[in-house]
Amino acid sequence: MNSLILTSSSLADLNDIAGKIVEFSSDQKIWLFEGEMGVGKTTLIKHLAERLGSEDLINSPTYGLVNEYEDGNGNPFYHFDFYRIKNEVEALEMGCEEYFYSGNICLIEWPSKIEKLIPENHLMIAMELGNENQRIINLTKHG
Ligand SMILES: Nc1ncnc2c1ncn2[C@@H]1O[C@H](COP(=O)(O)OP(=O)(O)OP(=O)(O)O)[C@@H](O)[C@H]1O
Ligand SMILES: [Mg+2]
Repeated sequence: MNSLILTSSSLADLNDIAGKIVEFSSDQKIWLFEGEMGVGKTTLIKHLAERLGSEDLINSPTYGLVNEYEDGNGNPFYHFDFYRIKNEVEALEMGCEEYFYSGNICLIEWPSKIEKLIPENHLMIAMELGNENQRIINLTKHG
């Protein structure tokens, strides 16, 4: 199975949805989050981080481009937010390729800002607003 569509009706659904996403995505390392501002990317990532075993609450990285967490087995995983990045050179300078090819999970908001640097093998998680307060979450494995 290479794709999956999930729908959230409210914030209360996100724990279950995060569980389903982790199950579907357990063989993936590069998880991309696309969707307009405010659609809920950071909020979903926060629930995913909890599912992956992080005990720290995570927030959108405001000052740095990357936050590091630890899963239940003591392995690091990373959350990137490239919204404010100037260009791909800045991403290379912060060592993004070392993270992307580390073999650890990378959760990446605004990957379109550094499109050329994204590994071919990745999971796309595209979020859209639906009716009412719904969030439609499309998962597709690439590569
Ligand atoms: N599944 C959901 N159901 C209802 N409300 C949600 C859901 N996910 C997020 N929200 C609400 O939407 C708002 C924006 O969420 P969030 O910051 O996660 O968006 P974002 O996509 O990361 O935005 P940005 O592109 O600015 O980083 C928050 O107030 C959050 O509570
Ligand atoms: Mg965000």
